[in-house]
Amino acid sequence: MLHVRMIKAKNPEEVGKIAADQFEALIHSKPACVIGLATGSTPLPLYRELIERERAGKIDFTRVRSANLDEYKGLAPDHPQSYRRFMQENLFDHISIRPENTIVPDGLAEDVDAMCRGYEEKIENWGGVDLQLLGIGHDGHIGFNEPEDHFPVMTHEVALTEMTREANKRFFDSIDEVPTAAFTMGIGTVMAAKKIVMVVTGKDKADILYKSFFGPVTPEVPASILQMHPDVTVIFDEAACSWE
Ligand code: GLP
Repeated sequence: MLHVRMIKAKNPEEVGKIAADQFEALIHSKPACVIGLATGSTPLPLYRELIERERAGKIDFTRVRSANLDEYKGLAPDHPQSYRRFMQENLFDHISIRPENTIVPDGLAEDVDAMCRGYEEKIENWGGVDLQLLGIGHDGHIGFNEPEDHFPVMTHEVALTEMTREANKRFFDSIDEVPTAAFTMGIGTVMAAKKIVMVVTGKDKADILYKSFFGPVTPEVPASILQMHPDVTVIFDEAACSWE
């Protein structure tokens, strides 16, 4: 039984606007909500839209709390390619969210288990994620949950596949600089969110979008688990459904 709501938009900008509507509605109904955020190029139009809407007085982030999906292992928060830095530059520095209300896994954690446990506890203490934003990797990864023989439950360390390192090398000077590991919320952490919004754009994502929502639920396509979540909205552009 497919509970997934699929919304087709014209282009990445429209995907961003429709996704922003979901955030705006949540923040209006619950000003101190908890949002789960994602990195990658797909959420950028959404982040630009959220910044504009706060400037226009339509949203207020002062009480919002946010938890990011993942971080590269070994990168300091101010490293140019760290996901903490990405979030600062593309969203947090431009909205009224309080720094202490934003969490991203600590890429430099020495005690990995303690850091991962602490991350889960923090989200739990906040009352859980109300709205989790997701992008999708070409192999179906969500956060950095790569294809495996099982669905990892909690926040954990993961080795990055060559496909993911290849895809992400565009942000680094060379492939050798792309970290080989990361910390990511687990599939269980993601599935615990009350509502999930996935954004997907571009022709190169058409195949994996189709497999994720019209194929079998399998840990070999991590995003396919979303078929089991009761409240998922996938917003994609025309290019990303070029199987039609
Ligand atoms: C990274 C992130 C994912 C993201 C994916 C796709 O691997 N860890 O959270 O969804 O990239 O990124 P893009 O939107 O740039 O295609």
